[in-house]
Amino acid sequence: MKIAVSGKGGTGKTFLAGTLAAHFAAGGHPVIAIDADPSPNLAVTLGLSLEEAGKILPVAENGELIRLKTGTDYSGVFRLTFTVDDIIENYAVPTPSGAHLMVMGTVRSLGSGCACPAHSVVKALLRHLIVDRNEIVILDMDAGIEHLGRGTAEHVDTLLVVSDANRKSLEVAKTICHMAQDSSIRQVVLIGNRLSSPAQEQVLKVFAEKTKIPLPALIPFDQGVFDNGISGDPVDEKRSPAMREVRNLATLLESGQLKKTDALVN
Ligand SMILES: Nc1ncnc2c1ncn2[C@@H]1O[C@H](COP(=O)(O)OP(=O)(O)O)[C@@H](O)[C@H]1O
Ligand SMILES: [Mg+2]
Repeated sequence: MKIAVSGKGGTGKTFLAGTLAAHFAAGGHPVIAIDADPSPNLAVTLGLSLEEAGKILPVAENGELIRLKTGTDYSGVFRLTFTVDDIIENYAVPTPSGAHLMVMGTVRSLGSGCACPAHSVVKALLRHLIVDRNEIVILDMDAGIEHLGRGTAEHVDTLLVVSDANRKSLEVAKTICHMAQDSSIRQVVLIGNRLSSPAQEQVLKVFAEKTKIPLPALIPFDQGVFDNGISGDPVDEKRSPAMREVRNLATLLESGQLKKTDALVN
């Protein structure tokens, strides 16, 4: 299962990606969570301390690794064929959640044909993780799908586009969904998050109906999750309504039921 998460900043992508990764890992599955956001913070959601998270050197910023993989003796010339499976063995970080974490670092405009060595390595690595590996892969991205170049996108099972009830978030969600539907990602769905009233849930439902984008989960605003973002104190999973909804979504994803879900009923 290969899942990518996108949406406007602040809507809860990292919360969702991290919670899903932890859930699948707790179920005994090997999981690789990939942080592909230019300002990465998935590590903390997976249980690492800020100090431990700060020590992780993102792949794109690891000059030695990039040189090792792509370097030639000619200046301005770099290799385009190299192996990346060893990068996962050497750089995927185990986390208390049970999931392994790979931090990609700042890689802008991957889709626009930029061919610098760091981009080539990250692109090849993402492709390898999504296309060749057997682990469950959860990809935490920013507000775009540029990371999923051709040859990779069609191997993503589901793109979860996260939005709260804010109009700007929904506009960003719509743009991402359209881009994704034009790409070869198999399934694109909208996930409502941080919803603090039935009226806000209704906004998501109306939007989903209008745009014909399936809406398999409405995740409520959860004070425990919000406080965790401030204090770092762990969320009481059993009492967290948001976590419960994410677990329901995980079950849908695992069972393949999502494919049959046209849109959220009622
Ligand atoms: N369902 C929720 N209820 C309350 N707070 C939430 C919820 N989901 C996310 N948050 C909080 O919102 C903030 C932004 O979430 P985050 O996952 O970092 O967003 P993104 O990765 O999209 O930028 C964080 O402080 C997080 O704790
Ligand atoms: Mg994030």
